[in-house]
Amino acid sequence: MDLLSDAEAAANLVTEAGEVTLVSHIDADGICSEAILSVALERQGIPVRPVFVRQLEPMTMKTIPKDRSFKVFTDLGSGQQNLLAEHGLSEEEVLILDHHVSQPAGKSYREVNALNYGHGKLAASGVAYLVARAIDPKNTDLAKLAVVGNVGDMMARTDLGLIGPSREIAEDGIRHGSVEVVKKDLNCFGISTRPVHLCLAYSDDPFVPGITSNPNGALQFLQRLGVTLKHPSGRWLVWEEIPVEEKRRVISALAQQLLSNGRSPDRLLAEAYLFPKEPERTPLRNASEFATVLNACGRWAKPTVGARICRGDRGIAFREAERMLTHHRGMIRDLLQFILEKGVTEISHLQHIHVGDRFPDTIIGIGAGMALSKLNRRKPILIMAEMSDDPLITKVSMRTNEEMVQTGTDLQQAIVDATAEVGGSGGGHRIAAGAYIPRELEERFIHCVNRRLESQNARPGKDDR
Ligand code: C5P
Repeated sequence: MDLLSDAEAAANLVTEAGEVTLVSHIDADGICSEAILSVALERQGIPVRPVFVRQLEPMTMKTIPKDRSFKVFTDLGSGQQNLLAEHGLSEEEVLILDHHVSQPAGKSYREVNALNYGHGKLAASGVAYLVARAIDPKNTDLAKLAVVGNVGDMMARTDLGLIGPSREIAEDGIRHGSVEVVKKDLNCFGISTRPVHLCLAYSDDPFVPGITSNPNGALQFLQRLGVTLKHPSGRWLVWEEIPVEEKRRVISALAQQLLSNGRSPDRLLAEAYLFPKEPERTPLRNASEFATVLNACGRWAKPTVGARICRGDRGIAFREAERMLTHHRGMIRDLLQFILEKGVTEISHLQHIHVGDRFPDTIIGIGAGMALSKLNRRKPILIMAEMSDDPLITKVSMRTNEEMVQTGTDLQQAIVDATAEVGGSGGGHRIAAGAYIPRELEERFIHCVNRRLESQNARPGKDDR
């Protein structure tokens, strides 16, 4: 099996279709996957009808039409092949482009799944891009969207940059002129939009004593270094605007600060992916902020606004997305504060909290991930929320960190096993997974997951997913 020849086979298959229904996930990777493939197919004159779902589960399966169109699933489907079969979809009418753990269910659906080729750091938008490029080599303008999707799905986090096929896709973007790679940039979020001291204070990888979570400390640190922080007009400069020499000064002072606190500076620098054709000082200027814009759209039930931005709309759609981004950030701040103030319940192998109906189920995982760095970093966090549209179902999100994954934690496996025991559906990755479960079995579910985590810690795993 070879990824590129299977992408080519998928390209041949999908371009034979008269019309396509493209079912995709509402997060940044799902939105980018949809945009990449839809644009590539539309360029071939093949009509595409997009359907965005927050997850494939019995309720959302109803949105998939039972018609003659060819069904392509991006960023989902691999883990829900049982649902596709139950929905009556035949092997001939389905193509799955995914990177979630595959769970075959009797039928041999055609699937290009990065994990099946040993690529743990290639998200679905990367797979979609390889198919788009196989449809027509001119589609390299879409590489930028694959970079956004990959970065949005945290494919660049562990290795401080994209690696393997997702890095090669970034190279396509560089050759096309729409992507610029900064090899050793500061590893922090908000380099195109946040005042520098906030950019430093809000980043916690690595945790820099005196600066992380301390905007005043960060400001004084920069002032002591004599860094120009404001534009002559009085507005704050963003990291991207700081002269190279001053950037170097900041980076070496941060490294010193880490070393003098007995911490490693290893994670201080990371590769950054910039988009030189996008307007400066906007969140579309770099991959991680672009992905956050798309996540905000998807998580607030407007994935099509994100899809329009991917297609180049910088007018109405972008303005709407900016409003959603402000709302999204505020809500996540509130959620983080709620988790930290209410406190989690710690049991032997995890920590958990229920947010009731205070926060939408689509964002709880994001808040839990952010909270983990401020809680016990040695136990995964499990967060639950009521589903507004179904009082009998509870949404579960789990997050862990790289250190725990290295010692054997596998949330996807724990969640899949626990849902097999209590009912419901779930999936994801070692580091982030989610499920929908029967509300009356919440307690039992927590204990099932806890037991699975206990047995995983006893026998560390290695592979990358
Ligand atoms: O929803 P959340 O952000 O917690 O999802 C984390 C990961 O788990 C995602 O990759 C998502 O696709 C996956 N997931 C899943 N099945 C569910 C819920 C989430 O595969 N029922």
